[in-house]
Amino acid sequence: MLQSLVGYLDSVKARDPSARSRWEVLLYAGVWALAWHRIAHWFYTLEFYWLARLFSQIGRLLTGIEIHPGATIGKRFFIDHGMGVVIGETAEICDDVTMYHGVTLGGVDPASGIGGKRHPTIANGVIIGSGAQILGPITVGANARVGANAVVTREVMAAATVVGIPAKPVLMDAANFSREFLAYGTPCDERYDPQTQRLEIIRCEMEKLQARLNALESEHRDTPRRTGS
Ligand SMILES: CC(C)(COP(=O)(O)OP(=O)(O)OC[C@H]1O[C@@H](n2cnc3c(N)ncnc32)[C@H](O)[C@@H]1OP(=O)(O)O)[C@@H](O)C(=O)NCCC(=O)NCCS
Repeated sequence: MLQSLVGYLDSVKARDPSARSRWEVLLYAGVWALAWHRIAHWFYTLEFYWLARLFSQIGRLLTGIEIHPGATIGKRFFIDHGMGVVIGETAEICDDVTMYHGVTLGGVDPASGIGGKRHPTIANGVIIGSGAQILGPITVGANARVGANAVVTREVMAAATVVGIPAKPVLMDAANFSREFLAYGTPCDERYDPQTQRLEIIRCEMEKLQARLNALESEHRDTPRRTGS
């Protein structure tokens, strides 16, 4: 238990250039929000929904981070700064995910109702910039990066970087790409793959062309045909 706490604090310290010690990290709102969530989620799995919600609301009050007790969160999740983060009930967050303040993992379709998957799945090692809104039951692939203030409503391929509204992939310059984890958005190891980025850009372009083609086809279908004289 102590070992895993120390391991977690070290992993947070490694991701925050301003952290000087484990004791300092222990004061972080994101660390406490996760602790409150672990308790809330435990009650949720036991179907004590009121108690689960109580602990989640206490966590929210103390940290400014709202995590629904039903959200599933893996190992070494780190919310830096934290204030304004909202994580929905059916969100799934895998291991080593880093997130900044103001992020929403939200739903768009209330019709799916209680128990239906409404929120995103975030794969291992994803980094989500401040203010990003990731909406719907989509998946953000492993080690992808979501830019600050991006609005993501479609699947994101593994190792892709997406920015903007609506979020689109950007091609990174491989020569400038760091192999070390850098806070604020650069993942580590061999995860960056320019081929993946190019494929993702082509996929988005094809989607855009398909949408234009569909619009043209339906416009053509709706135009009344001139009858020959
Ligand atoms: C998306 C991100 C990870 C990319 O970082 P990077 O690898 O250093 O990429 P670059 O800065 O070289 O940007 C590549 C391109 O994307 C654009 N871009 C980068 N971030 C963007 C963003 N959030 N929104 C829109 N465009 C963005 C750049 O302008 C550049 O475009 P260009 O090639 O047309 O000039 C990073 O910019 C980001 O948003 N990180 C989150 C930081 C954050 O939340 N910090 C809060 C800490 S408190």
